[in-house]
Amino acid sequence: MKIIKTPAAFARWRQKIPAKTSVGFVPTMGALHEGHLSLIEKSNRENRLTVVSIFVNPTQFGPREDFNRYPRPWVEDIRKLKKKNVAALFYPAPESMYPKDFSTEVFVSGLSKTLCGSIHSRGPGHFKGVATVVTKLMNIVRPTRTYFGLKDFQQVRVIEQLNEDLNLGFKIIRCPTVREPDGLAMSSRNAYLTSAERRYAPQLYQTLLYGRKLLTSHPSKSPDQVQKILKNRLSSIPDVKIDYVELVHPRSLQKVEKNRRPILIAAAVKFKSARLIDNILVK
Ligand code: PAF
Repeated sequence: MKIIKTPAAFARWRQKIPAKTSVGFVPTMGALHEGHLSLIEKSNRENRLTVVSIFVNPTQFGPREDFNRYPRPWVEDIRKLKKKNVAALFYPAPESMYPKDFSTEVFVSGLSKTLCGSIHSRGPGHFKGVATVVTKLMNIVRPTRTYFGLKDFQQVRVIEQLNEDLNLGFKIIRCPTVREPDGLAMSSRNAYLTSAERRYAPQLYQTLLYGRKLLTSHPSKSPDQVQKILKNRLSSIPDVKIDYVELVHPRSLQKVEKNRRPILIAAAVKFKSARLIDNILVK
């Protein structure tokens, strides 16, 4: 596996790949888990070569967030990537991605301000950081297909929208959330959970499943009523603060008034040691 550390070096490597060779791309921040590996496997099945990036992008973390303590298990990550026959790892230094005179930001308004982007949650700056870095990464890698997990549903929508709005023409592939046997969505941040929190964490997904049941078997229940019930249920999880639980349209991510599908139920909760997000699409 080739390890490439600057955009210029990547461009040189990329130039040598024949135009007809398909290249799948899996952008990550490292601390690879089964969710990432399933994206790599899908990319391997659908493309001749797979490129993975590991870049803990500073601009998508707020000042009080976990940038410094974000896990960086380099040796383990390399071992996993080699096992999956990844052709190249793009592992840029922050100064090669954001040189001193860097001054362009990509901001997808609307989609970046709801759910995790609301001022009560991570704030719209988070998705500005994501949109900017993903635009850069895709322009550097020039992939045939790029793979994203749907645990970060809002992130996927932001990237799809910028791809559409800026006519970038990248193929964005949505991939299902990979879960632990007890339903907890896989995330690099699950490693922060204490053992007690880990025991309670699957209740987030159970609550979303309950929300889906309420919407589908009680069509007279409004999204507002379902939201109240889900809030109550989430607030009964010990040591949890609700960041949000919302019923939104899966394209606009704006609140829905009527129980008319498709509806995305999205939630974020904070334990003392980790913030978890999850969602379920009710079709
Ligand atoms: O989902 C992630 O790991 C990150 O947000 C991404 C897409 C790699 C951008 O930094």
